[in-house]
Amino acid sequence: MATNGETKENQAGRHQEVGHKSLLQSDALYQYILETSVYPREPAPMKELREVTAKHPWNIMTTSADEGQFLNMLLKLINAKNTMEIGVYTGYSLLATALALPHDGKILAMDINRENYEIGLPIIQKAGVAHKIDFKEGPALPVLDQMIEDGKYHGTYDFIFVDADKDNYLNYHKRLIELVKVGGLIGYDNTLWNGSVVAPPDAQLRKYVRYYRDFVLELNKALAVDPRIEICQLPVGDGITLCRRIS
Ligand SMILES: C[S@@+](CC[C@H](N)C(=O)[O-])C[C@H]1O[C@@H](n2cnc3c(N)ncnc32)[C@H](O)[C@@H]1O
Repeated sequence: MATNGETKENQAGRHQEVGHKSLLQSDALYQYILETSVYPREPAPMKELREVTAKHPWNIMTTSADEGQFLNMLLKLINAKNTMEIGVYTGYSLLATALALPHDGKILAMDINRENYEIGLPIIQKAGVAHKIDFKEGPALPVLDQMIEDGKYHGTYDFIFVDADKDNYLNYHKRLIELVKVGGLIGYDNTLWNGSVVAPPDAQLRKYVRYYRDFVLELNKALAVDPRIEICQLPVGDGITLCRRIS
Protein backbone atom coordinates (compact mmCIF):
# COMPACT_ATOMS: atom_id res chain seq x y z
CA MET A 1 0.00 0.00 0.00
CA ALA A 2 1.34 3.42 -0.88
CA THR A 3 1.76 6.03 1.82
CA ASN A 4 -1.00 8.17 0.34
CA GLY A 5 -3.49 5.30 0.61
CA GLU A 6 -3.39 4.28 -3.07
CA THR A 7 -3.56 0.59 -3.88
CA LYS A 8 -0.59 -1.04 -5.65
CA GLU A 9 -2.77 -1.40 -8.76
CA ASN A 10 -3.46 2.32 -8.85
CA GLN A 11 0.18 3.08 -8.40
CA ALA A 12 1.06 0.79 -11.27
CA GLY A 13 -1.47 2.60 -13.44
CA ARG A 14 0.10 5.92 -12.59
CA HIS A 15 3.53 4.54 -13.28
CA GLN A 16 2.37 3.62 -16.75
CA GLU A 17 0.95 7.09 -17.23
CA VAL A 18 3.95 9.09 -16.11
CA GLY A 19 6.77 6.68 -15.33
CA HIS A 20 8.74 6.84 -18.55
CA LYS A 21 9.12 10.60 -18.27
CA SER A 22 9.79 10.69 -14.57
CA LEU A 23 13.36 10.90 -13.37
CA LEU A 24 12.28 12.12 -9.94
CA GLN A 25 12.58 10.04 -6.80
CA SER A 26 8.96 8.93 -6.98
CA ASP A 27 6.09 8.97 -9.43
CA ALA A 28 3.98 10.59 -6.70
CA LEU A 29 6.31 13.58 -6.71
CA TYR A 30 6.10 13.87 -10.47
CA GLN A 31 2.31 13.55 -10.34
CA TYR A 32 2.30 16.32 -7.73
CA ILE A 33 4.14 18.66 -10.12
CA LEU A 34 1.77 17.81 -12.96
CA GLU A 35 -1.38 18.24 -10.92
CA THR A 36 -0.27 21.32 -8.98
CA SER A 37 1.64 23.40 -11.50
CA VAL A 38 1.31 21.96 -14.99
CA TYR A 39 -2.18 20.66 -15.79
CA PRO A 40 -4.06 23.61 -14.21
CA ARG A 41 -2.07 26.04 -16.42
CA GLU A 42 -1.92 23.93 -19.58
CA PRO A 43 -3.48 25.80 -22.52
CA ALA A 44 -6.69 24.07 -23.73
CA PRO A 45 -5.27 23.11 -27.17
CA MET A 46 -2.24 21.46 -25.55
CA LYS A 47 -4.51 19.51 -23.22
CA GLU A 48 -6.59 18.39 -26.19
CA LEU A 49 -3.50 17.33 -28.13
CA ARG A 50 -2.08 15.50 -25.12
CA GLU A 51 -5.34 13.57 -24.70
CA VAL A 52 -5.57 12.69 -28.40
CA THR A 53 -1.92 11.57 -28.40
CA ALA A 54 -2.45 9.41 -25.30
CA LYS A 55 -4.69 7.17 -27.44
CA HIS A 56 -2.01 6.68 -30.10
CA PRO A 57 0.01 3.44 -29.95
CA TRP A 58 3.37 5.27 -29.96
CA ASN A 59 2.37 7.72 -27.22
CA ILE A 60 5.53 6.97 -25.24
CA MET A 61 7.29 9.30 -27.73
CA THR A 62 5.34 12.43 -26.82
CA THR A 63 6.97 15.34 -25.02
CA SER A 64 5.71 15.42 -21.44
CA ALA A 65 3.41 18.20 -20.22
CA ASP A 66 5.99 19.60 -17.77
CA GLU A 67 8.58 19.80 -20.54
CA GLY A 68 6.01 21.47 -22.81
CA GLN A 69 5.42 24.07 -20.11
CA PHE A 70 9.18 24.54 -19.71
CA LEU A 71 9.74 25.03 -23.46
CA ASN A 72 6.86 27.48 -23.66
CA MET A 73 8.33 29.66 -20.91
CA LEU A 74 11.91 29.36 -22.17
CA LEU A 75 10.92 30.58 -25.63
CA LYS A 76 9.15 33.59 -24.15
CA LEU A 77 12.13 34.39 -21.90
CA ILE A 78 14.54 34.46 -24.85
CA ASN A 79 12.04 36.28 -27.12
CA ALA A 80 12.43 33.56 -29.72
CA LYS A 81 11.06 34.32 -33.14
CA ASN A 82 12.82 32.03 -35.60
CA THR A 83 12.94 28.41 -34.45
CA MET A 84 13.42 24.86 -35.67
CA GLU A 85 12.19 21.51 -34.39
CA ILE A 86 13.56 18.12 -35.41
CA GLY A 87 11.14 15.35 -34.35
CA VAL A 88 7.49 16.41 -34.29
CA TYR A 89 5.43 13.22 -33.77
CA THR A 90 1.86 14.51 -33.11
CA GLY A 91 3.11 18.01 -32.31
CA TYR A 92 2.94 18.56 -28.55
CA SER A 93 6.31 20.38 -28.27
CA LEU A 94 5.58 22.04 -31.61
CA LEU A 95 2.32 23.47 -30.25
CA ALA A 96 4.07 24.56 -27.02
CA THR A 97 6.53 26.41 -29.26
CA ALA A 98 3.96 27.85 -31.65
CA LEU A 99 1.91 29.24 -28.74
CA ALA A 100 4.99 30.91 -27.27
CA LEU A 101 6.15 32.68 -30.43
CA PRO A 102 4.87 36.08 -31.56
CA HIS A 103 2.28 36.21 -34.38
CA ASP A 104 5.04 36.51 -37.00
CA GLY A 105 7.21 33.81 -35.39
CA LYS A 106 8.41 30.86 -37.47
CA ILE A 107 9.10 27.18 -36.88
CA LEU A 108 10.77 24.93 -39.40
CA ALA A 109 9.44 21.53 -38.26
CA MET A 110 10.82 18.27 -39.63
CA ASP A 111 9.78 14.67 -39.24
CA ILE A 112 9.99 11.55 -41.39
CA ASN A 113 6.33 10.85 -40.59
CA ARG A 114 3.62 13.30 -41.75
CA GLU A 115 0.76 11.02 -40.72
CA ASN A 116 1.42 11.57 -37.01
CA TYR A 117 1.79 15.32 -37.49
CA GLU A 118 -1.62 15.29 -39.13
CA ILE A 119 -3.17 13.86 -35.96
CA GLY A 120 -2.29 17.07 -34.15
CA LEU A 121 -2.63 19.48 -37.06
CA PRO A 122 -6.40 20.19 -36.71
CA ILE A 123 -5.83 21.16 -33.06
CA ILE A 124 -2.87 23.37 -34.02
CA GLN A 125 -5.05 25.01 -36.71
CA LYS A 126 -7.91 25.55 -34.28
CA ALA A 127 -5.43 27.20 -31.87
CA GLY A 128 -4.68 29.74 -34.62
CA VAL A 129 -0.93 29.10 -34.79
CA ALA A 130 -0.54 26.82 -37.83
CA HIS A 131 0.61 29.76 -40.00
CA LYS A 132 3.88 29.85 -37.99
CA ILE A 133 4.78 26.27 -38.98
CA ASP A 134 6.62 25.13 -42.08
CA PHE A 135 6.44 21.32 -41.87
CA LYS A 136 8.87 19.29 -43.98
CA GLU A 137 8.41 15.55 -44.25
CA GLY A 138 11.61 13.53 -44.49
CA PRO A 139 14.94 13.04 -42.76
CA ALA A 140 16.26 16.27 -41.26
CA LEU A 141 19.95 15.82 -42.04
CA PRO A 142 19.78 16.47 -45.82
CA VAL A 143 17.63 19.57 -45.20
CA LEU A 144 20.25 20.91 -42.79
CA ASP A 145 23.01 20.17 -45.31
CA GLN A 146 21.09 22.07 -47.97
CA MET A 147 20.58 25.02 -45.63
CA ILE A 148 24.28 25.15 -44.83
CA GLU A 149 25.18 24.98 -48.51
CA ASP A 150 22.75 27.82 -49.27
CA GLY A 151 24.64 30.02 -46.83
CA LYS A 152 21.74 32.34 -46.06
CA TYR A 153 20.58 30.47 -42.94
CA HIS A 154 23.85 30.70 -41.02
CA GLY A 155 23.36 32.14 -37.54
CA THR A 156 19.65 32.77 -38.06
CA TYR A 157 17.91 30.55 -35.47
CA ASP A 158 17.00 31.74 -31.97
CA PHE A 159 16.08 28.26 -30.78
CA ILE A 160 16.35 24.71 -32.12
CA PHE A 161 14.73 21.73 -30.39
CA VAL A 162 16.09 18.27 -31.26
CA ASP A 163 13.89 15.31 -30.31
CA ALA A 164 14.43 12.70 -33.02
CA ASP A 165 16.89 9.91 -33.95
CA LYS A 166 19.39 9.87 -31.07
CA ASP A 167 22.06 8.14 -33.21
CA ASN A 168 22.27 11.34 -35.28
CA TYR A 169 22.43 13.94 -32.52
CA LEU A 170 26.14 14.55 -33.02
CA ASN A 171 25.59 14.83 -36.76
CA TYR A 172 22.84 17.38 -36.04
CA HIS A 173 25.09 19.26 -33.65
CA LYS A 174 27.81 19.69 -36.30
CA ARG A 175 25.29 21.43 -38.53
CA LEU A 176 23.04 23.19 -36.01
CA ILE A 177 25.94 24.98 -34.37
CA GLU A 178 26.30 26.88 -37.65
CA LEU A 179 22.59 27.60 -38.04
CA VAL A 180 21.85 28.83 -34.51
CA LYS A 181 22.64 32.47 -33.68
CA VAL A 182 25.50 33.37 -31.39
CA GLY A 183 23.52 33.77 -28.14
CA GLY A 184 20.81 31.39 -29.40
CA LEU A 185 19.92 28.00 -27.93
CA ILE A 186 19.87 24.39 -29.07
CA GLY A 187 17.91 22.00 -26.82
CA TYR A 188 18.77 18.30 -27.06
CA ASP A 189 16.04 16.12 -25.60
CA ASN A 190 16.39 12.76 -23.81
CA THR A 191 19.96 13.34 -22.65
CA LEU A 192 19.33 11.28 -19.49
CA TRP A 193 17.79 8.55 -21.65
CA ASN A 194 15.46 6.88 -19.18
CA GLY A 195 18.13 7.15 -16.50
CA SER A 196 20.13 4.56 -18.48
CA VAL A 197 23.16 6.87 -18.71
CA VAL A 198 24.14 5.62 -15.25
CA ALA A 199 22.96 2.02 -15.65
CA PRO A 200 25.56 -0.67 -14.77
CA PRO A 201 26.85 -2.66 -17.77
CA ASP A 202 24.77 -5.75 -16.86
CA ALA A 203 21.51 -3.79 -16.31
CA GLN A 204 18.34 -5.13 -17.96
CA LEU A 205 17.43 -2.43 -20.45
CA ARG A 206 14.80 -2.41 -23.15
CA LYS A 207 16.42 -3.08 -26.53
CA TYR A 208 15.95 0.43 -27.94
CA VAL A 209 17.13 2.01 -24.68
CA ARG A 210 20.32 -0.05 -24.81
CA TYR A 211 20.87 0.67 -28.51
CA TYR A 212 20.65 4.47 -28.22
CA ARG A 213 22.36 4.72 -24.83
CA ASP A 214 25.91 4.81 -26.24
CA PHE A 215 24.95 7.60 -28.64
CA VAL A 216 23.48 9.64 -25.78
CA LEU A 217 26.60 9.06 -23.66
CA GLU A 218 28.80 10.13 -26.56
CA LEU A 219 26.69 13.25 -27.15
CA ASN A 220 26.82 14.25 -23.47
CA LYS A 221 30.62 13.91 -23.44
CA ALA A 222 31.00 15.90 -26.64
CA LEU A 223 28.72 18.73 -25.49
CA ALA A 224 30.54 18.96 -22.17
CA VAL A 225 33.84 19.82 -23.89
CA ASP A 226 32.57 21.86 -26.85
CA PRO A 227 34.11 25.34 -26.46
CA ARG A 228 31.57 26.94 -28.83
CA ILE A 229 28.74 26.50 -26.33
CA GLU A 230 27.75 26.94 -22.72
CA ILE A 231 25.57 24.09 -21.48
CA CYS A 232 23.00 23.31 -18.85
CA GLN A 233 21.57 19.81 -18.47
CA LEU A 234 18.18 19.79 -16.79
CA PRO A 235 16.32 16.78 -15.34
CA VAL A 236 13.08 17.92 -16.96
CA GLY A 237 11.18 15.19 -18.82
CA ASP A 238 13.78 12.65 -19.92
CA GLY A 239 16.57 15.20 -19.53
CA ILE A 240 17.16 18.18 -21.77
CA THR A 241 20.53 19.78 -22.44
CA LEU A 242 20.44 23.44 -23.38
CA CYS A 243 23.39 24.66 -25.41
CA ARG A 244 23.92 28.40 -25.76
CA ARG A 245 26.16 29.24 -28.68
CA ILE A 246 28.92 31.59 -27.59
CA SER A 247 31.14 31.61 -30.68
C1 LIG B 1 10.27 11.46 -29.61
S1 LIG B 1 9.41 11.73 -31.09
C2 LIG B 1 9.16 13.46 -31.08
C3 LIG B 1 8.20 13.93 -30.03
C4 LIG B 1 7.71 15.34 -30.20
N1 LIG B 1 8.74 16.33 -29.97
C5 LIG B 1 6.48 15.61 -29.34
O1 LIG B 1 6.39 16.68 -28.77
O2 LIG B 1 5.62 14.74 -29.25
C6 LIG B 1 10.66 11.48 -32.29
C7 LIG B 1 10.25 11.79 -33.72
O3 LIG B 1 11.44 11.85 -34.52
C8 LIG B 1 11.09 11.45 -35.82
N2 LIG B 1 12.31 11.12 -36.55
C9 LIG B 1 13.03 9.97 -36.47
N3 LIG B 1 14.08 10.03 -37.31
C10 LIG B 1 14.04 11.24 -37.91
C11 LIG B 1 14.84 11.91 -38.88
N4 LIG B 1 15.93 11.31 -39.39
N5 LIG B 1 14.50 13.15 -39.27
C12 LIG B 1 13.39 13.76 -38.77
N6 LIG B 1 12.58 13.17 -37.85
C13 LIG B 1 12.90 11.95 -37.44
C14 LIG B 1 10.13 10.29 -35.59
O4 LIG B 1 9.32 10.06 -36.72
C15 LIG B 1 9.35 10.76 -34.36
O5 LIG B 1 8.13 11.35 -34.73
